[in-house]
Amino acid sequence: MHLNRKRVLTFGTFDLFHFGHLKLLQRAAKLGDELFVGISSDSLNFAKKSRLPIMNEFERAHIVASLKCVNSVFLEESLELKRQYLLRYEADILVMGDDWSGKFDEFADICEVIYLPRTKNISTSELLQRIKNDF
Ligand code: CTP
Repeated sequence: MHLNRKRVLTFGTFDLFHFGHLKLLQRAAKLGDELFVGISSDSLNFAKKSRLPIMNEFERAHIVASLKCVNSVFLEESLELKRQYLLRYEADILVMGDDWSGKFDEFADICEVIYLPRTKNISTSELLQRIKNDF
């Protein structure tokens, strides 16, 4: 707890920023007093998916940081460092979309872990597909 302010942390790539991202961040922010967002780095994405995001980490971080509901962003350089990030940024609550349901329960010893339902029918992959199909 920070001067009685409840801090929420969430993580994601937020590539081709879309409505589902916005709704997740707005709902996460409402669970506390301030929202910090870990933006997964380009190299982390490359390691996970064998391709780079469409927008680089600088662009993705700047878009998310400019939102009214977001207080601060940082780069997530490694999936293995989640616990360190939660401790470093003194998270009271970890929020993840429910595509990750159960996967972060191990952190319940240091913060509350909440999974929010995803917004239906939109994702970065689905947007890419829409663009490919239309042009
Ligand atoms: N998210 C959401 N609703 C969606 C899409 C994403 O609530 N329709 C949430 C995810 O659950 C995650 C955060 O937004 O907590 C960041 O998602 P990210 O993985 O960066 O975006 P996706 O659109 O899911 O990307 P991809 O299609 O590449 O998996």
